[in-house]
Amino acid sequence: MFRRRKKNPEEDKAKRLKPSRSSYREALQLASYLRPYKGTFIPAILALFLTAGLSLAFPYFMGQLIGQGTSSGQAPTPEAMTASIDQIAMTLAAILLVQATIAFFRIRLFAVAGESALADMRRDLYGHLIRLPMPYFGEHRVGELSSRIASDLTLIRETFLQTFPQLVRHSVMLVGGLVFIFISSAKLAFFMLACLPVVLLLVALFGRKVRTYSKEAQDQLASSQVVVEETLQGITSVKAFHNETHETHRYGAALDRFLATTMRGASVRAAFVAFIIFILMGTITAVVWFGVKMLATGAISQEQLYQFILFSIFVGASMGSLPEVISQIQKAVGATETVRDLLNENVEGRDYPTTADGLPARLKGELTLRDLHFAYPSRPDLPVLKGIKLEARPGQRIALVGGSGTGKTTITNLLLQFYAPESGSILFDGQPATSYPLEYLRSQMALVPQEVLLFGGTIRENIAYGRPGASAAEIEEAARRAQAESFIHSFPEGYDTLVGDRGIKLSGGQRQRIAIARALLADPAILILDEATSALDSESERLVQQALEELMIGRTSIIVAHRLSTIRDADQILVLQNGKVAESGSHEELVKDPEGLYRMLSKLQFGL
Ligand SMILES: Nc1ncnc2c1ncn2[C@@H]1O[C@H](COP(=O)(O)OP(=O)(O)O)[C@@H](O)[C@H]1O
Ligand SMILES: [Mg+2]
Repeated sequence: MFRRRKKNPEEDKAKRLKPSRSSYREALQLASYLRPYKGTFIPAILALFLTAGLSLAFPYFMGQLIGQGTSSGQAPTPEAMTASIDQIAMTLAAILLVQATIAFFRIRLFAVAGESALADMRRDLYGHLIRLPMPYFGEHRVGELSSRIASDLTLIRETFLQTFPQLVRHSVMLVGGLVFIFISSAKLAFFMLACLPVVLLLVALFGRKVRTYSKEAQDQLASSQVVVEETLQGITSVKAFHNETHETHRYGAALDRFLATTMRGASVRAAFVAFIIFILMGTITAVVWFGVKMLATGAISQEQLYQFILFSIFVGASMGSLPEVISQIQKAVGATETVRDLLNENVEGRDYPTTADGLPARLKGELTLRDLHFAYPSRPDLPVLKGIKLEARPGQRIALVGGSGTGKTTITNLLLQFYAPESGSILFDGQPATSYPLEYLRSQMALVPQEVLLFGGTIRENIAYGRPGASAAEIEEAARRAQAESFIHSFPEGYDTLVGDRGIKLSGGQRQRIAIARALLADPAILILDEATSALDSESERLVQQALEELMIGRTSIIVAHRLSTIRDADQILVLQNGKVAESGSHEELVKDPEGLYRMLSKLQFGL
């Protein structure tokens, strides 16, 4: 099921603050990641309930202890009293020791199960994300998406490892404490409970206000972060236009908005804490006051009173922290939505067969485009290709020329199966593209784009990207054929030179030759050169052109060229205009047409 809904951001925000019942159910689906670790997780949960239950022993025995120590009169002898005090203290100490030991293992087991499940989830998410079809990346701001995923996963992690155990502990203490209080003195319990609803209502109201502010502040902090990311990514532009001051102001303004909100939030929080101190402690005082009066009239024993007070404090503390715990869990359920939405998106390649059985290891390289029509999914009403035709025999060189924005890159995008055509078809060796597995088809093609992006490793690793597992000798052979050897040897570290983030330590021509070495190593049947030399100076262009000549031997090549000099000897030249092939033929044929577009373009470039 392909769910593509445009989301209303306001609605989205509201949902993240207060998730619906169905989103709780859906969030629970993610619990399936715990399944492989159930051998660890189930004992951890049992230990969690056990320690939570044992924590009720503390107010019980402590109350008894203090009650014994201070009770006077009825005690038979000081010796007997001391013995009983010692016994209670020992029991309590033993229980605490057991509780502490279980807690130690509980936390460790929880971390093992939780962190492993989360790592699996991250791995799945990443694997899924990079397999999503190209249109997905056109429709989403990828930077925003990835930072959203990162922060949501952090939230889920904290909630699972910290908040969830808190919820269990507090619930057990709350229920256990209330049960005890009622058993011990129903009258006192009713008095206490009468005070509570008012307190709880106010706590909830304040809590909601604090949450709204903190959410708003978080959003504002995120948008100030966008400024930082943008400027760092475009740091050359910022500096070249000496806009540092402008950007500093822009960041400052975003920070000011964040500050103003946090300040308002801080006031509410301060009032909240002040209120808690007064009201919650006040309530406890009232309960103690009432209890001591009952003690004076003999309605309860000393021991009961102390136990009652301690249990009340525990119950109060649990109740007080529940709103926080619940809101944290609500936030985490909201956070799972980004994760679930992403996992529900369909990966690409579903319209292709899955097995490459019976297919040749290498295609011959015959290529046919039949009446291709296409518009980008993000701009459906703007047709880009309006009936493109092309026939390439194996090993031919086909050049695509035409003004910028005429759809040359779009044709290469369709060849690489990044997008599906609206109508028309693409045939490889006479068979429709969709009759081959997607991975197989892509392995038959190599792309050398205008701007080559390298990964931040060594030169060797970047060349090996063309065929992971290639031997050192193969890599060096590819580099030699790609005219890259001399510059690689000019670096002191040779093939182990780090190329820097995205390859910034190499020049454009050097990066291009690494991309060509990659393609040589991949040895595909079809080669796509998209303005591979357009961004280069003439010296680098000469070297890259040489490397490209070597690369094109024995492959069908689709050459998108800006400079017509580089495609003169192509077997066919297609001149694109308005999403159609306006003219086609060899250089000699095309220049003959006095009215032709190609002739005009050549005139401009060569002065013919
Ligand atoms: N990812 C995209 N989403 C929407 N429109 C696009 C996208 N890429 C290119 N276009 C549009 O498609 C048209 C052709 O672009 P392109 O194929 O890149 O042209 P060329 O490579 O010939 O310069 C242009 O009008 C461009 O604005
Ligand atoms: Mg282009």
